[in-house]
Amino acid sequence: MNQTIFGCYLQTLVLFLVAITHAVRISYDGYKVYQVTPRTRVEADLLREFEEDIHFDFWSEIRAVDFPVDIMVAPGAQEEFEDFLDNQNLEYTTIIENVEEKIQEEDSRQRRQVRVDRGNVTFTEYMRHDEILAYIEQLTVDYPSIATTEVIGKSFEGRDLTVIRISSGASNKSIIFIEAAIHAREWIAPPVALYIINQLVENSNYTNMYEDIEWVIFPVVNPDGYEYTHTDARLWRKTRSTATICNGVDGNRNFDFQWMVTGASSWQCSETYAGRSAFSEVETQAVKNFFDSHRGRIKLFIDLHSYGRLLMFPWGYTSDPPSDFEELQSLGERVNDAITSVRGTNYTVGTAISILYPTSGGSRDYAKAVGGIDLSYTIELPAGGNAGFNPDASEIIPVVTEIWEGIKVFYDYVVEKYVNGTKTV
Ligand SMILES: *[C@@H]1O[C@H](CO)[C@@H](O)[C@H](O)[C@H]1NC(C)=O
Ligand SMILES: *[C@@H]1O[C@H](CO)[C@@H](O)[C@H](O)[C@H]1NC(C)=O
Ligand SMILES: *[C@@H]1O[C@H](CO)[C@@H](O)[C@H](O)[C@H]1NC(C)=O
Ligand SMILES: *[C@@H]1O[C@H](CO)[C@@H](O)[C@H](O)[C@H]1NC(C)=O
Ligand SMILES: *[C@@H]1O[C@H](CO)[C@@H](O)[C@H](O)[C@H]1NC(C)=O
Ligand SMILES: [Zn+2]
Repeated sequence: MNQTIFGCYLQTLVLFLVAITHAVRISYDGYKVYQVTPRTRVEADLLREFEEDIHFDFWSEIRAVDFPVDIMVAPGAQEEFEDFLDNQNLEYTTIIENVEEKIQEEDSRQRRQVRVDRGNVTFTEYMRHDEILAYIEQLTVDYPSIATTEVIGKSFEGRDLTVIRISSGASNKSIIFIEAAIHAREWIAPPVALYIINQLVENSNYTNMYEDIEWVIFPVVNPDGYEYTHTDARLWRKTRSTATICNGVDGNRNFDFQWMVTGASSWQCSETYAGRSAFSEVETQAVKNFFDSHRGRIKLFIDLHSYGRLLMFPWGYTSDPPSDFEELQSLGERVNDAITSVRGTNYTVGTAISILYPTSGGSRDYAKAVGGIDLSYTIELPAGGNAGFNPDASEIIPVVTEIWEGIKVFYDYVVEKYVNGTKTV
């Protein structure tokens, strides 16, 4: 074989491999989800050992003892894992026998015959990234005096990283910044962001809410990953930047504060891979640049995730409480009370480290420590009612409407503290 023919052959092979890896949806056939409930710290530590193993995918994070943790396990590792659980006398149940069947079921229930009309929003289905952008662009056409969009960067694959600003009257006001879907598979997060946008802009009851405050909402931080979960791999979490063995970085471990210090991985195939350096990802850079260019104005930062029903504030990396712990805890509890008043949904409120194992390099800690945003929260939204990764589409409305009540409490507090200057918490 001469070199040209060999080169040609190689190229064809590469194209073929690229084609099959892109055309075939990743199957989770035979994958099981176990729910393990550690009863002691020792048992919880035992589970942690599996976090780095590529056969294991932690759907919910390990919390303090006596809280169940959902772990998806690849077929080849199940027997050994069950033996391990039995030998260690760990309490567990199987909550999903075959993840692929679950996804197919979800697909057949949720697959849309028609796309959402360009420019419209829906809360009865999960929208694609282009539909989300079309909706917020339409708002700037329909409500030009209050809504504007801004592209704050391009994703690794070249998608627009678009935020919407909602504001009237004066410029240079205090900002509430809300972001969603830095983790691609957490599908319930963008609808929450969209509902906040929808109520602020389209419900005339709330026109006062953007007179004294500017809202900036970033509905899909990681659009490449988000689209990939729709087209290729439903359970993709990371960005889609390429690397030598495994693609993608955990955007919520990629921020330059205590980067790679704890609860993050340097192994590129890990679900919590922190990246080859802090801010290696263009998506996290875009958030950083936004913080930088609005320094001093952003008063509240909210990062939307799923799942867990958790309302967490800094720190994630140290158990030393922040100096304003009382304020953050008390505000979190007031927000939770408002959410609970709707239909009883109860969030656990506290510092991230008091609820989860230590993590570092996330946007919440960065926002407070480096971004100078005192009020910084992560919201882990509820799980699906019937053991899926995310709520069934029929559960979007109940989730987004109850969160909205909590958002109003956040808003009132920011106004009291930074606009009216009468802090009451
Ligand atoms: C899309 O929105 C327009 C106006 O906002 C409305 O007239 C139309 O009925 C909507 N279409 C759908 C399918 O909801
Ligand atoms: C606006 O508020 C009124 C009074 O609370 C309520 O009856 C009405 O349903 C609200 N409208 C919308 C669109 O939410
Ligand atoms: C804008 O607001 C920030 C923070 O409130 C303040 O430091 C800055 O001086 C203001 N700039 C202008 C032009 O008013
Ligand atoms: C909510 O959960 C907390 C513990 O996280 C508990 O103390 C409280 O009683 C619960 N509230 C409701 C309304 O269930
Ligand atoms: C802030 O002050 C304005 C004007 O005095 C008042 O109408 C509004 O209710 C106050 N808002 C909050 C949340 O305290
Ligand atoms: Zn997440």
